[in-house]
Amino acid sequence: MLRPLSARLEAILALTDPCKLAADVGTDHGLLAARLIQSGLAKTVLCTDLSAPSLDKAKKTFEKAGLVAFARFLEGDGLKPLAGYDPELVIVAGLGGDTICRILNESPEFVPNRTFLLQPMSGHETLRAYFDAHGFCVQEERLVAENRRIYPVCKVRYDGVVRKSDPLALYCGARNLTRTDEVTRAYLCRVRAHLKRATRHESALESVVRALSDRLADFPQNKEDERI
Ligand SMILES: C[S@@+](CC[C@H](N)C(=O)[O-])C[C@H]1O[C@@H](n2cnc3c(N)ncnc32)[C@H](O)[C@@H]1O
Repeated sequence: MLRPLSARLEAILALTDPCKLAADVGTDHGLLAARLIQSGLAKTVLCTDLSAPSLDKAKKTFEKAGLVAFARFLEGDGLKPLAGYDPELVIVAGLGGDTICRILNESPEFVPNRTFLLQPMSGHETLRAYFDAHGFCVQEERLVAENRRIYPVCKVRYDGVVRKSDPLALYCGARNLTRTDEVTRAYLCRVRAHLKRATRHESALESVVRALSDRLADFPQNKEDERI
């Protein structure tokens, strides 16, 4: 029995469409990749990691679950170990937003015609700005709360269309601005607190803070609550 997935990894799984070949870049423990196979969402999975000891952890997870025949284990940086393979889905989770941008940027030939599920631990706005500037269409973005932090999970595909970034959407995520659930409210409150601090050095952000306050005023419970 494999240990259950964290809320963050469950949120990624929930956005996964069935596919023949998936890749989990920076797989580490390999738990998400193993669940892709166990759940039938992927027939085969490519597990990659920059670190050999991390990749060994993934191999052990697959051995324990009796799933080694359904996986390849590839050591290397970002998308580079995937050269020669054609996964329909590529997951990059648990890395910083700036690292995910670098990973995409260093393999432009590999990016078209696949779905990416990207879950940054930091630099959320950096990643959203990258999507707009580099022709990625955001198909879905969901927020997930884990260990008192809130993370976005972004489902994107490259369509080559460069988009003009809306500042509020960059910081909040366009889809999150249309939702009124508790996790979204907590996320937007945190973004506003962060932006308020940043206005001390960057007064241009004041209009974004005002727009965000207007948006938060629409929520059913308009209180600054850090329960999540
Ligand atoms: C925090 S763990 C995340 C594990 C798993 N993806 C998750 O979300 O729970 C980050 C893993 O990514 C690997 N990693 C970091 N930078 C990488 C890169 N440029 N290419 C591939 N793997 C990388 C690390 O070695 C580590 O195993």
